[in-house]
Amino acid sequence: MLTTRPRGTNDILPGEVEKWQYLEELARQVCREYGYSEIRTPIFEHTELFARGVGETTDIVEKEMYTFTDRGDRSITLRPEGTAAVVRAYLENKLYALPQPIKLFYIGPMFRYDRPQAGRFRQFHQFGVEVFGSNSPAIDAEVIAMAMDIYHRIGLTNLELHINSVGCPQCRPVLRQKLQEYFRPQLAELCPNCQGRFDRNPLRILDCKSEKCQEIGRHAPTTLDVLCPECQAHFELVKGYLDAVGVKYIVDNRLVRGLDYYTNTAFEIMTRDIGAQSSIGGGGRYNGLIEACGGSAAPGIGFALGLERILLTAERQGITFPISRGPAVFVATVGAGAETESFALVQKLRRHGIAADKDYLGRSLKAQMKYAGKLDARLVIILGEEELSRGVAVVRNMQAGSQEEVPLADIISYVKEVQ
Ligand code: HAM
Repeated sequence: MLTTRPRGTNDILPGEVEKWQYLEELARQVCREYGYSEIRTPIFEHTELFARGVGETTDIVEKEMYTFTDRGDRSITLRPEGTAAVVRAYLENKLYALPQPIKLFYIGPMFRYDRPQAGRFRQFHQFGVEVFGSNSPAIDAEVIAMAMDIYHRIGLTNLELHINSVGCPQCRPVLRQKLQEYFRPQLAELCPNCQGRFDRNPLRILDCKSEKCQEIGRHAPTTLDVLCPECQAHFELVKGYLDAVGVKYIVDNRLVRGLDYYTNTAFEIMTRDIGAQSSIGGGGRYNGLIEACGGSAAPGIGFALGLERILLTAERQGITFPISRGPAVFVATVGAGAETESFALVQKLRRHGIAADKDYLGRSLKAQMKYAGKLDARLVIILGEEELSRGVAVVRNMQAGSQEEVPLADIISYVKEVQ
C-alpha cells in the first residue's frame, strides 16, 4: 500500500509532464485570444452544490462522488466537475455585477468514483470554460468553435462533433411525457437504476450505459421532436454560426449528456481512436443552473475537455509535441580546484536566463559527458584548473560534436549566440 497509488489515479512523471505543460499553455493561449480569464475554485465543495447542480438522477451524483463528512460534521465532496463550482463562485463573488458576459476558464483535477479503464480515471483533469450572462447563439458557436480550435492546434484529427438541443422548461415536460409513454410498456425490463429514474427524470434513461436500456431506448422520441419554436430558432442560429466559420458537426438527436443542468445546446466531441471512452470533451448551455444554485436567473454555457483523453488520442494518432527537454548548458568540472568556479558559473548562466546544470556526484569527466548526454544538454562547458588559470573554458557543442576554447569573460554572450 505504501508504494501503490490509489486505483484510478496517475503519477505524471518528468518526460510526460512536459506534454501536460504544453497542452495547458496551448489552452491558455487560446483563452487569451478568445478573452477568457482564469478562475481557480476549491478542489472540494459542499455536497449539496453538486447534488443540486449536477442533478440527483445523474450517475455522477447517484454513484460516483467522493463524499465524506469532515471533522466539523459537514458533508464535503471532491469536485466531480467544474461547472457547478464556477457557478457557485460567480454567485458568491457577485461576478454578475461586472460587465456581462463573464468568460472564465479553469484547468484542474476532478474526481469520480467510476470503474477505471483506458481513458477513464478516478482522478482526471479537465480544461473547461464557462460563460455567464448571454443567451446569444453566437456564444454557443464561440465556445464550440473554441473547443474545436484547441483540438486542431494540438493536431488531432478524426474527430466528430455531435450537437443537439435538449430544449427548455417549456419543451421539457412534453418530452418527459412522451418518453414516459414510450418506456412505460417496457418499464420492468429497464435496469433498476432507470426504473427509479422513470418518474423523476426519464430523459436520463437515454444516457444509461446498460445495453438493455440502450436497446429499449433506440426508438424513443428525441428532444428535436418536441422543441418549442424558440428553442428551434436558437438551435438553427447556432448551426448557422458554426456553418459560417466552417465548423463541421453532426446533429445527433440522441445526445443528452450525463449531467442534468443542460438546456438548449448540448454537444460532445468524440474520437474512434481511444476505444470505449470516446468522448474527449463536451458541454452545453445551462440556462436554469444559476437560478437552481440560488441566484437570479441568468444564462450560462460552457464545456470541459478531458486532458488524459486528449493525450491518449494524440499518442494513438502519432502526434508529437514540440517540447525541448534538458538544459541548454551543462558545466563539467575537472579537478576539485574548479568546483567552486563551476558552481558559480552555473548560477551566473541561470541569472542570465540560460537553463544550466552540473554534476553533484563527483563523477569523472567521461561520466559527466555521458550524464550531460542523458540530460540532453546542447552545450557542455568544460572547466578545469588549467583552463581557469588561463581565463578560458572549452565549450563542446553536443549536436555538432565540435568544441572550441572561449574566454570566460565572453562565455555568456557566446552561449546566448549559439544556443
Ligand atoms: P463531462 O462530459 O462529464 O462534462 O466531462 C467532460 C470531459 O471530461 C469528458 O468529455 C471526458 O473527456 C472527461 N472525463 C469525464 N470523466 C472522466 C473520467 N472518469 N476519466 C477521464 N476523463 C473523464 C462536464 O464535466 C461538464 N462540467 C462540462 C461542461 C462545462 N458543461 C458546461 N460547462
